[in-house]
Amino acid sequence: MKKVLFSILLAAFVLTLAAQTLPIYLDDTRPVEQRIEDALSRMTLEEKIAVIHAQSKFSSAGVKRLGLPDFWTDDGPHGVRPDVFWDEWEQAGQTNDSCVAFPALTCLAATWNPEMSYIYGKNLGEEARYRGKHMILGPGVNIYRTPLNGRNFEYMGEDPYLASRMVVPYIQAMQNEGVAACVKHYALNNDEEYRHQVNVIVSDRALHEIYLPAFKAAVVEGKAWAIMGGYNLYKNQHNCHNKILLNNILKKDWAFDGVVVSDWGGTHDTEEAITNGLDMEFGTWTNGLTMGTSNAYDNYYLAMPYKKLIKEGKYTTKELDEKVRRVLRLYYRTSMDFSHKNHGFLCSEAHYEAARRIAEEGIVLLQNTGNLLPIDRNKVKRVVVVGENAIKMMTVGGGSSSLKVQREVSPLEGIRTILGEKVQVEYVRGYVGDVTGEYNGVSTGQNLVDERKPEMLTAEAVEKARTADYVIFFGGLNKSDYQDCEGHDRKYYELPYDQDRVLEAIAKVNKNVVYVNISGNGVAMPWKDKVAAIVQGWFLGSEAGHALASVLVGDANPSGKLPFTWYAGLKDVGAHALDAYPGVWRDNEKIIDEEYKEGIYVGYRWTEKNKIRPLFAFGHGLSYTTFKLGKVIADRTEISASDNITVSVDVTNVGSRAGAEVIQLYVSDKKASVDRPLKELKGFKKVFLQPGETKTVSIVIDKDALSFYDEVAKAWKAEAGDFELLVGNSSDNITSRVKVTLK
Ligand code: GLC
Repeated sequence: MKKVLFSILLAAFVLTLAAQTLPIYLDDTRPVEQRIEDALSRMTLEEKIAVIHAQSKFSSAGVKRLGLPDFWTDDGPHGVRPDVFWDEWEQAGQTNDSCVAFPALTCLAATWNPEMSYIYGKNLGEEARYRGKHMILGPGVNIYRTPLNGRNFEYMGEDPYLASRMVVPYIQAMQNEGVAACVKHYALNNDEEYRHQVNVIVSDRALHEIYLPAFKAAVVEGKAWAIMGGYNLYKNQHNCHNKILLNNILKKDWAFDGVVVSDWGGTHDTEEAITNGLDMEFGTWTNGLTMGTSNAYDNYYLAMPYKKLIKEGKYTTKELDEKVRRVLRLYYRTSMDFSHKNHGFLCSEAHYEAARRIAEEGIVLLQNTGNLLPIDRNKVKRVVVVGENAIKMMTVGGGSSSLKVQREVSPLEGIRTILGEKVQVEYVRGYVGDVTGEYNGVSTGQNLVDERKPEMLTAEAVEKARTADYVIFFGGLNKSDYQDCEGHDRKYYELPYDQDRVLEAIAKVNKNVVYVNISGNGVAMPWKDKVAAIVQGWFLGSEAGHALASVLVGDANPSGKLPFTWYAGLKDVGAHALDAYPGVWRDNEKIIDEEYKEGIYVGYRWTEKNKIRPLFAFGHGLSYTTFKLGKVIADRTEISASDNITVSVDVTNVGSRAGAEVIQLYVSDKKASVDRPLKELKGFKKVFLQPGETKTVSIVIDKDALSFYDEVAKAWKAEAGDFELLVGNSSDNITSRVKVTLK
């Protein structure tokens, strides 16, 4: 008997040991959740701790004993960042990591075309896949609350509905390629200047109606596999381990099953990180491996300090196992998902084509007095191109989204290529702005130094412009510090480098001036009525020059619409009019309280409430053709809470060339128990029409589109009563409206 018992025990022991050491078989066809539990059951405490924090700048450990590979991530939202050293921000100097730079996400938002978002995510996902990255640290969807925010170019504008619709396809497409999206920076990270010290104070209504919707859409509809906590604090708790944002809203209310990643250096407390929902800690400021400290990654808050608390019995592995489950789920969705036979592509022509298409569809024609544009290349003889932004590389710089591109076509190159030999194209500098040519070890290879005095540069530009058929001035901002760049905000709204003076001097001698603004933010335009045409050119990435030139000569008919209100000045912005930016320092000078006093009145919600006319309205964008919108028809004018309403409008292209229009649907609550904006965007659709063609555009809405966030009930609520549905092609051009009643 004893022998039998002994052999049974021995067999059991051997099996257990085997279970602990057998690799996780790749051909294991059990459901992922079972495989996760299986892997978890085999992992030691050391292995569990190892997978929830970084082991290098952009990687975290796998579990080699079980056949789980290391996990690799990389920036950024616009392209795959070049590889840096194991534990340095400096370049590793690879020769196989040049990439395609896709347009900045503000340009993607300006397309108002979810198909472009899908193309974006797919192509970026292919580049990431090829580069062996399991997760891309993007897209960003923080709301454009102030035009000074250094990182607005990485985000999708001021309106929560537009950002929600435009972020979802990007995530779905990228994750379809087997690459996790990591939507950021969750949440309320709406400016850069004091991003590590800002404690945001905001009403529940503004939080839920303005700042959370795009994150919620990314998680609930986009099914994002990861989300990044922002650096700032909310209700005095750091976002990377914020109980309300992570445990209550993200993981409970939104049932997020992915991984919460800290921003690099966003983790500040072990016990909060344990209990408040942080799953992977990256970039914490230990002095890293390079400063001689024995494995500084062990000093991470979720590393040895966490293990110590478990050893002391202060914590069981309950929270740890939940974190590890999420990390394992991320593995099985990416590094351990071998169903994807694709190995991705890098710098393929298809990727350049995608970058160019998105850029062309995102460029916004803001003004075209006298139909100066498009330039008729068969008539024009001499074009003068002015401005530093006609030649300056914009893919290098701007912070963590900076890239090492295989190529970047400048606006000047694009113009020269498209106009060809027959047209004389001359370039003059006009002004000197930022002449640095390097970021984070990536060099632009450009030497933009020009020692001439500003007066000389202006005189030269005026002289050349005097007899030109067209003057195209490429100005705006750039990716240097205190411009459109991470880590700081702009100090003022006006154009830098005295561009206004140069442009006005040119406008005095030539009436055919086209001003192309390269930026991710609005700027002051005191000369608006002195130039005929104004184009918002965004940071367009590798194909910038081709896309801009194509629009300027009319090969592409512009169809972009502004994703934010273009203010005349900061006094017209809620955050600034109420002195609610950048906030008030506490006595300890460590925390700055930034109270979002404007509440839900961000962007057009603010300007319409206060009867402020912006330079250009949210949703504004012209075309080289003309569209006529018919009368809007609702399929029902009385609805109960469970009904949908289909709103239809006929759109006709009454011009002489093909083009696209964006039909926008706004909702106005005629009588509510709370103060509500005059109208809010709740639907849009881009429609492509041949000359003379008419299409019926239909947009379906339901009671969600009529709802507001009720702070008392802590829930969304649609109050019975009358609403107006307004349809137009810009927030300041409503062509017809229809009344509906919610019973
Ligand atoms: C940066 C940024 C974040 C980026 C991360 C890694 O500080 O805030 O967007 O993904 O660190 O570079």
